[in-house]
Order: sequence, then structure tokens, then C-alpha cells
Amino acid sequence: MHSTAVAMATAIDAQRLWQRHMAMAEIGATPKGGVNRQAFSPEDGRARQLLISWAQALGFVVSIDDIANVFIRRPGSDANAAPILTGSHLDSQPTGGKFDGAYGVLAGFEALQAIHQAGVTTKRPLEVVVWSNEEGCRFQPGCMGSAVFTGKLQVHDLLAVTDKDSITVDAALQATLHCTAPLPRRSPGFPVAAYIEAHIEQGPILEATGTTIGVVTGIQGMHRYTVEVLGEEAHAGTAPLQTRKDALKAAAAMVGALEELMADDTDTVRFTIGRFEVSPGSPNTVPSRVFFTIDFRHPDQTVIDQLTSQIAPVCRTHARGCEVMVRQISAASPTHFAPAFIDTIRQHAAALALPHMDIFSGAGHDAMHLADVCPTGMIFVPCDKGVSHNEAEHARPDDLAAGARVLAACLVDLANR
Ligand code: HGY
Ligand code: MN
Ligand code: MN
Repeated sequence: MHSTAVAMATAIDAQRLWQRHMAMAEIGATPKGGVNRQAFSPEDGRARQLLISWAQALGFVVSIDDIANVFIRRPGSDANAAPILTGSHLDSQPTGGKFDGAYGVLAGFEALQAIHQAGVTTKRPLEVVVWSNEEGCRFQPGCMGSAVFTGKLQVHDLLAVTDKDSITVDAALQATLHCTAPLPRRSPGFPVAAYIEAHIEQGPILEATGTTIGVVTGIQGMHRYTVEVLGEEAHAGTAPLQTRKDALKAAAAMVGALEELMADDTDTVRFTIGRFEVSPGSPNTVPSRVFFTIDFRHPDQTVIDQLTSQIAPVCRTHARGCEVMVRQISAASPTHFAPAFIDTIRQHAAALALPHMDIFSGAGHDAMHLADVCPTGMIFVPCDKGVSHNEAEHARPDDLAAGARVLAACLVDLANR
């Protein structure tokens, strides 16, 4: 492999990378050692500001687009060449960990700094990107920034989306756009020569097999729905059960029936109800409204089609006289990265003598959108017991640095093609 690429990898500073993770994790830090840095929150803004301050201190050019995706650019010798992009997200789950998303941004930034300080010239510019709202927990859908960048969604269609406190994307986005010092504005979407994202695996396979690098072959398909059940308030002491339109009992029956539908003795289906709201929430009033979310994932499109087509009919069957609205929020088919791109990552992991294996991603990532517009790949590193979307999420400094080394080698290689 390209000797510069390997030399680049050695310029990665493990200690600096770890310290940046710890500094970033102070923003939105939670008592149990995690982070709460939800999309377009003040914490999300401060995380962006911190990264931008590091970038500007190194002389990199920082810009932002209309959905607040942030780009940190290191010029190449051919200013007109489409850049190689790397990055991930800084927004987190409410009880998120220090590494989900942040690793991909900080590993990309560490690679950029190592390449810069080694004085390596690349033909193509290199850009580190912070995608807005990857998690989709405060504002649905997730991967919002990369979906806009790749033309799947338009900013103006998202502005009226609200969080559970009725704050709109528009208000929160404006606050984020203005929390960073004035930055050159880019229109969403520009030609990209290739995209490569580093991420913790968020699963147990790498750690269990003693493997340092996951060469990601693809990402499973993911559908998201909301279900709203509308019944009627009634007196808990006087309303006969026969005449009630009890939204909670109906929703509970729907959940039970959906569990039966999703039963899979191969344990491949991923079916999650992460939010379940009951109103008015009084102990002695029959619930009139229930709102819940469905997150469905599977690697096989046929199974996705077969099971998701039954979600609405199953909910309606158990409506028990209530009104039921099932809305599809997002639908992503399984992503398969290009074999040649996967091979590039595999070769650099091998050239660095790092234990590596092919792995398919159960978690969703912005790479699923980028794969539709340019050659795309991902590098995984282990996390403790595969725990993620949990404040106990943890990764080891050596593994983080190893992933950044493979990333740096890939970036130099790809940028000189
Ligand atoms: O939900 C996901 O798979 C991603 O971690 N946001
Ligand atoms: Mn993530
Ligand atoms: Mn996540």
C-alpha cells in the first residue's frame, strides 16, 4: 500500500485523540458518565463551537450549510477536485455515550491534523463533516443533515417538525446556525469523490472476537413509524367497560399483537417501541390519546416489506373503537457498500497489521445516504460489551487510535487517486 498512507497512520496521536473525546464529552455530560446533546440543542451548539475552535486554530477553513452541517476543509493541490469527505455526528441520544458519533468526527479531525502536520499534500481537498441530527430522537427523522445533503429531504419540508415540547426544527435550527461565529454558508449538497466514516460498532462482535477493525460491508434496512390512538376521556368509576374508547387498552393490545407479528426465532428482526405517551395521564380518567413510536430493522428487504406492510392493519384490528393513525416517518433499504471500497479499507487495515474482519452494521449511520451519491465505506472499532445508546458506552484509546490510523491511510490514498 501507498507508503505515505502508512506513514500518515503513524502520525496519529492517540493521547490527543483521547483528550479531545474527554473534552467533547464534558459538553452535555450526564451524572452517569454519558452525554445528553440532542440535535440543535444548546449542547449541540457548544459541541460544534468547540470543534470549530480547534479547526480554526489549525488554519482549516470551516463552513456550514442550511441544515447546519459543518464542514472543515483542508485544501488539496487541485482546488477544483471533488473532496474526500469523512465525519459523523455530535448529537446524541438523551442517555447517550461519549463515543457514538463523536468518534467519527474526532477521528476524522485527528486524521486531518496528522496529515496537515506531516505536510502531506493531497490532490483532492479533505473535508471533515459534522452531520446534523443523526440520532432523530428529538426531531424525526434521524440522519436529517445527510438526507438533506444528498437531496433525499428538503430543509423547508422539515422546519415545522416539532419536538415533544412543541419547539420547531426552524427555531432550534436558527439557534444552532447563529450559535457559531459567522461562517461561510454553503448550499446543501456538493459533489463528493468519496465518503468514509469511522464509528464504534455499537455491538459485541469485534470485542468478542478480539478484532480491532471492522471493515463494514453494509447497513441493515430501517423503517420508523409513529402510531396515534384517539379514544375518549371518561370517568374511571362510572363509565362501563363495554362503552369505553380506551386508547391505552387499545394501544396495549396493538403492542402485544405487533410483538407476535415480529416474533423471530433467529433473533434477526429488530423491533423497538422507544416512546409511549398516554394522555391525559390522570389515574381516574380513561385515557383518550396514546402516541407511540416504532423502530423496525432487518437486513433483508423481502422481510422488511412483508412485516412492515402488516403494521397498520394489525394496529387497526386492535383499535377497539378508537381512531388509529399510523404514519411512516422514514424508510431506508439495506445499504451494501461497493466491494472495491471495502477492499481499500481492508487493505489499509492489513498494511497496518491490525486484526480486522468484515462486519455488517446493525446500527444506522449517515453513510447510508452518502452511499447513494458517492463511493462510501465505514470503519468500526470495538466498544465495551457492544453497549451503546447508554451512558455506560465505552471504548479503548488504543482501538480509537487504530481506527483513526486506518482512516488517515485511506484518506491519503483516496485523495491521491
Ligand atoms: O439508531 C441508530 O442506529 C443510530 O445509532 N442513530
Ligand atoms: Mn451514531
Ligand atoms: Mn446513535
